[in-house]
Amino acid sequence: MKDIIAVEGGVKLSGEVRAEGAKNACLPIMAASLLCEGRVVLQEVPPLEDVLTMCKVLNALGARTKYDKRQKKLQIETPAVLKTKAPYNLVRKMRASFLVLGPLLARTGRAGVSLPGGCAIGIRPIDLHLKGLKALGAEVIIGHGYIETVAAKICGERVYLDFPSVGATENIMMAAALAEGTTVIENAAEEPEVVDLARFINAMGGRVSGAGTDTVSIHGVASLKGVEYTVIPDRIEAGTFMIAAAITGGSVTVKNIIPAHLTALIAKLREVGCEIEEDEGIIHIFREGPIRAVDVKTLPYPGFPTDLQSPMMALLSLAKGASVITETVFENRFMHADELRRMGAQIKIEGNSAIITGREKLYGAPVRATDLRAGAALVLAGLAAEGRTEVGALYHIDRGYFRFAEKLAALGARIRRL
Ligand code: UD1
Repeated sequence: MKDIIAVEGGVKLSGEVRAEGAKNACLPIMAASLLCEGRVVLQEVPPLEDVLTMCKVLNALGARTKYDKRQKKLQIETPAVLKTKAPYNLVRKMRASFLVLGPLLARTGRAGVSLPGGCAIGIRPIDLHLKGLKALGAEVIIGHGYIETVAAKICGERVYLDFPSVGATENIMMAAALAEGTTVIENAAEEPEVVDLARFINAMGGRVSGAGTDTVSIHGVASLKGVEYTVIPDRIEAGTFMIAAAITGGSVTVKNIIPAHLTALIAKLREVGCEIEEDEGIIHIFREGPIRAVDVKTLPYPGFPTDLQSPMMALLSLAKGASVITETVFENRFMHADELRRMGAQIKIEGNSAIITGREKLYGAPVRATDLRAGAALVLAGLAAEGRTEVGALYHIDRGYFRFAEKLAALGARIRRL
């Protein structure tokens, strides 16, 4: 089977589309289910490659997972005794597998995870995760591609993060959930996915407060119990459909969305010239006038999300005038610029800034997804380009978007997966 999405550009999207549950909330919540001994039932679990990989990681650790793809429901049974090593062949596929380190350490006093893989969007170190776990009393041993953490007892501490890393905040929060005493994470990530994880831990009987602010306190408890929990909607998938509506000059309603999670994108899309109406659980977006050039700077939440930077670049490639996108979260996240140039975009990279001089047209071309969100950006560019675009290396897109081509086709796009 060819690994390609083919798009004939030029159709204005219209209609309704529903976002799935959030991948980036679901993966840490799955890891956190290791904290309890018992059964967790998760609803709104998106049928994505990354979710299936996390199921395999949990299974390899001794948990039993049962995923009902149609109902988007996942059951995780965590036994009393867990294995302590997450295997290399799974962890290398997906960086988020590293999130089992904290909960596994908390449950077993010993956790080994191979050094993570994932999207090639920068060096993506794990020093902050380890700094946090060390502060809680873990000894960290690195060797032979593995990281081993050992702690006879995990004790609450103050941890200051040099950067508000999402993954580090989550890993430390999970380890601290079963610690002795109180842990305070300062300069914590404030992303909605961090808040969802905290709510899940609390639903299991944990005591986390302050999630969603820069100071998160975790009062350790002796044990946690299994629960049923519904994952929040995916703001990045929803945002991608909003940008798809914007780039085609269409009129789209996105359902299963929390507008408050998309404040930065909504503000920028209004500056670009889109009309946006927000309601509970719904956003309606349309654009009739030209695309106006705007400057965008990616930042930790509530700033503009780095995961929507590449779709935004596709949009601004068709703006009237010059835009500057500054990427401050990851240091190597402009690889899609080369591919967009092949479609006629005029983009100059200077350090962590991209200067985009808008063109009247983009032209269809064969291109390759260089990472998950870059893949989505190329499909969006193809929706607005003249002629046929073929996007290859779809495994990147499948990691984070469920039925991406089908959902766009339902909005009228001439798009097919070959
Ligand atoms: C998560 C998201 C990802 C998103 C990113 C930023 C998941 C599964 N993935 O990734 O989609 O793009 O947040 O919103 O939720 N850093 C360090 N040391 C560390 C950890 C991170 O320096 O120990 C740096 C990274 O290199 C990067 C920045 O911090 O430059 C942000 O990374 P982080 O917030 O940790 O992203 P992830 O949790 O990996």
